Amino acid sequence: MKGIVLAGGLGTRLYPLTKVTNKHLLPIYNKPMIYYPIEAMVGAGIRDILIVTGGNNAGDFLRLLGNGREFGLNHIDYAYQEGEGGIAAALSLAEFFADDQPICVILGDNIVQGSIARYVENFAGQGSGARILLKEVPDPQRFGVPEIKENKIVRIDEKPSHPASSYAVTGIYMYDPQVFDIIKTLKPSGRGELEITDVNNCYIAKGKMQYDILDGWWTDAGTFESLLRASNLVCQNAMEKENSGLKKQQAGNVS
Ligand code: G1P
Repeated sequence: MKGIVLAGGLGTRLYPLTKVTNKHLLPIYNKPMIYYPIEAMVGAGIRDILIVTGGNNAGDFLRLLGNGREFGLNHIDYAYQEGEGGIAAALSLAEFFADDQPICVILGDNIVQGSIARYVENFAGQGSGARILLKEVPDPQRFGVPEIKENKIVRIDEKPSHPASSYAVTGIYMYDPQVFDIIKTLKPSGRGELEITDVNNCYIAKGKMQYDILDGWWTDAGTFESLLRASNLVCQNAMEKENSGLKKQQAGNVS
């Protein structure tokens, strides 16, 4: 499976933090934001990764990530998105890279606590279609929200004022190669973008959409509140790991 991290956009919700840099280069606790989705992919065994970026700071990604040695990779691919076209438009730039293989897509501002390996395996076992990861959240109206009937997603609404469930569609998506043909049929939404939710609704209409509920915490980091929350969650996680390491060490010293 190939991996695609979408790291374009203007990050206007974080202005002026994003006035002179790209949102995905901002810090989340002790690392730049883009590190987390790359680590999630590498942790799931995905080693063939494309970063899609854009805007004025694209060169900074190359300087920061290079060939991916810090992640144990030998190589990273890069694509450049001209202008603002939405998530699905950014994804369309990955068609050549995907080369008719299944893909795992992560939005560059999505951060997960645990491994996504098991969900990637579930998709590999699925054979075709799409798979998305859902997470229960207190503020579903900020996200794509699924309506679920008899354990099946029947529709996804993008940022609904009256959410049909308390789940968010996280920015972790898995698709078969059909996705690029689907994107070509999309029309821009009210906000002038090709929406990833429209892509997902196409798979739902064809009966080809599966999902998992994500274990552990998940957050985006595209607003001031979620940017701060992401740093706090990552920091807390690091401290818990350190403490449990110390406890194990102490127990080892005693025995
Ligand atoms: C995007 C998607 C939305 C999804 C979210 C996850 O929203 O459009 O469906 O729930 O990512 O982070 P955005 O953050 O670009 O507004």
